Amino acid sequence: MIKAGLYIHIPFCATKCMYCDFYSIADRNESIPRFIKALVKEIEQSSIDSSNWIFDTIFIGGGTPSLLEPNHIESILNALETQFDLSQIKEFTIEANPGEAPYNRLNNFHELGINRLSMGVQTFQPELLQFLTRKHSTQDVFDTFEHARKAGFQNINCDLIYSIPGQTWDMWDKDMSTLIQLNPDHISAYTLTVEKGTDLFHSVNNKSIIMPNNDITGDWFLKTHDYLASNGYSGYEISNFSKPGLECNHNLHYWNIEPYLGFGPSAHSFDGKNRWSNMRHLDGYLGKIELSDSPVSFQEELTPNQIQNEKIGFGLRMTQGIHHELVKKNLLRKSQDKWPDCIQVQNNRIRLTHEGMVFADAIGVDLMG
Ligand SMILES: C[S@@+](CC[C@H](N)C(=O)[O-])C[C@H]1O[C@@H](n2cnc3c(N)ncnc32)[C@H](O)[C@@H]1O
Ligand code: SF4
Repeated sequence: MIKAGLYIHIPFCATKCMYCDFYSIADRNESIPRFIKALVKEIEQSSIDSSNWIFDTIFIGGGTPSLLEPNHIESILNALETQFDLSQIKEFTIEANPGEAPYNRLNNFHELGINRLSMGVQTFQPELLQFLTRKHSTQDVFDTFEHARKAGFQNINCDLIYSIPGQTWDMWDKDMSTLIQLNPDHISAYTLTVEKGTDLFHSVNNKSIIMPNNDITGDWFLKTHDYLASNGYSGYEISNFSKPGLECNHNLHYWNIEPYLGFGPSAHSFDGKNRWSNMRHLDGYLGKIELSDSPVSFQEELTPNQIQNEKIGFGLRMTQGIHHELVKKNLLRKSQDKWPDCIQVQNNRIRLTHEGMVFADAIGVDLMG
């Protein structure tokens, strides 16, 4: 039996953040009930043979899933139950935006079996929240966090973003220490990436925004890992840190190239061989489902070589690294020469050192056959 995950994509947001390329749209909340109906139908018409898989994680992501009402979550869960064995689910996450997840709703979510909350804090600096066009205030973070704990969430992740134009190390240092005082169980610390098509992308292109240079980002990356590790959050993946035993099992499915099924617009799925994804368009998605058509807009069968390369690429981003047999000996030797002090080989595993993690993507490409 192979471990697997279930992903549900909720595309609604109160506003669209300037840096975000995830499929999400603002001002469409009136479509939520129609969307839930379609989502339920999509799940119920799923014909994937998952008899060899044990689903142990559910992740409701977005978008802003905390905008949903508890009865929506109940409908989604009921639909999942008609199709999949949910008895082995150990981690059930929902994403929430600070200030957009009132206490009663969180309480109801927890009562429905959701046991992990992932909150997009991003930064505690008001001017950087404004730069990122975030809708929430610093106080909203404290309030939502407190409400989540009170509602019973014992596993809370907080997302932070660094390498933001205008951010000093001092500001970032303060963001990390403020978050650590809140005592979340897991921290994701992402560098701000410029994604094609976003407002940030256009501003960087027309030079009205200048991004921090790579040397600074690399230096902050190393210091961030040291800082979080010395406060009890060990980095188990390039951007992810947790208290012992509280790694995100759902994301580990992606990084370990294990199967996952996704539902909702833009959701991706992988069955161990084939990968497919739904269209990134709410109305297109609704139209297809309502006509009992497939919302899938992309599909590919991965060759064994592609799967091996994915294992290398994703595996190197984790501290556990990869089994040495995944990499050809001559490529390993060449890469060790090209990237001194970056690659470690020990106990049959190839791992990147801290310094190597800064160049993980480039080293990964060099190690792929
Ligand atoms: C897509 S959001 C969904 C959760 C929720 N709506 C929120 O904004 O917190 C998940 C996380 O992705 C991260 N993210 C999105 N776009 C990013 C970017 N361009 N660079 C770095 N992090 C990004 C943010 O940290 C965010 O919390
Ligand atoms: S970052 Fe979160 S809140 Fe902002 S647009 Fe993306 S999904 Fe929506």
